[in-house]
Amino acid sequence: MGLSNSNGIYRLIKTAERLLGSPNRASAMTDSHQHRQQMSQITDSLKSIIKDINCTDLYINEEQPNLTALKPKNKNTVYYYPILENNMFTLGIFAFPPHTHMPLHDHPQMTVLSKVLYGSVYCQQYDWRTTPKLVREAGEVSIQGQVDYLGESVITSQSQYKTTLPHRGNIHSFATKDEPAAMLDLLYPPYDFRTRFCTYYKPVELDNNNNNPTNQTSSTSQPIVFQSYSATEFNCEPGSPHTGLTLLRDEILKEFNKLT
Ligand SMILES: [Fe+2]
Repeated sequence: MGLSNSNGIYRLIKTAERLLGSPNRASAMTDSHQHRQQMSQITDSLKSIIKDINCTDLYINEEQPNLTALKPKNKNTVYYYPILENNMFTLGIFAFPPHTHMPLHDHPQMTVLSKVLYGSVYCQQYDWRTTPKLVREAGEVSIQGQVDYLGESVITSQSQYKTTLPHRGNIHSFATKDEPAAMLDLLYPPYDFRTRFCTYYKPVELDNNNNNPTNQTSSTSQPIVFQSYSATEFNCEPGSPHTGLTLLRDEILKEFNKLT
């Protein structure tokens, strides 16, 4: 028995391979109108599949319904389960214990479709107001710039999906409250740690005299300025073994290995 072609994950991977596999697609760094239009069509196709994916498609069932049940309730740790990673996209699950916070971070030049599998995820989104700049201070270089707050949304398994686009809502944070949550993420193109890497940000207040950041704030003072930082307080760790996900991953590797 293998992965059924009616399984949502099978259909998502099959479609992602087909649409993102062409050499002039997701890997192209062009920002032309034509490229944006093409990516928009691809994203619409992928949305139409990911919106219906649920725990059953991922073999997350009554036996192990909670991916973080055995994990400590640490507000700074999120657990990651890779599903399939290749040079076209990354598909994986982020599992959040209750009261967890994933700091503000970005997905440069990338699109991310997120589908909550269970629980509720609180998401705050921002966009750069102007192009961020490199700032050197006390020998440290950071990225700094003004952002616009786009608002907070709550995404649940009843929500269709959340979309993160290269030019819209590209900086975001996630948090859970009293319940655990798990979120399936499809990222394309994937982080490559050369031109596309994840940067964490925190809000800062600027010194009026020299524009240097003075301290961190969560206030709504205007303008909102973000500065990159190392986010050493946050951990993203491998999830503990899950029988269903392990089986799914084995079946995916058998089915798609030749394509990756
Ligand atoms: Fe993200």
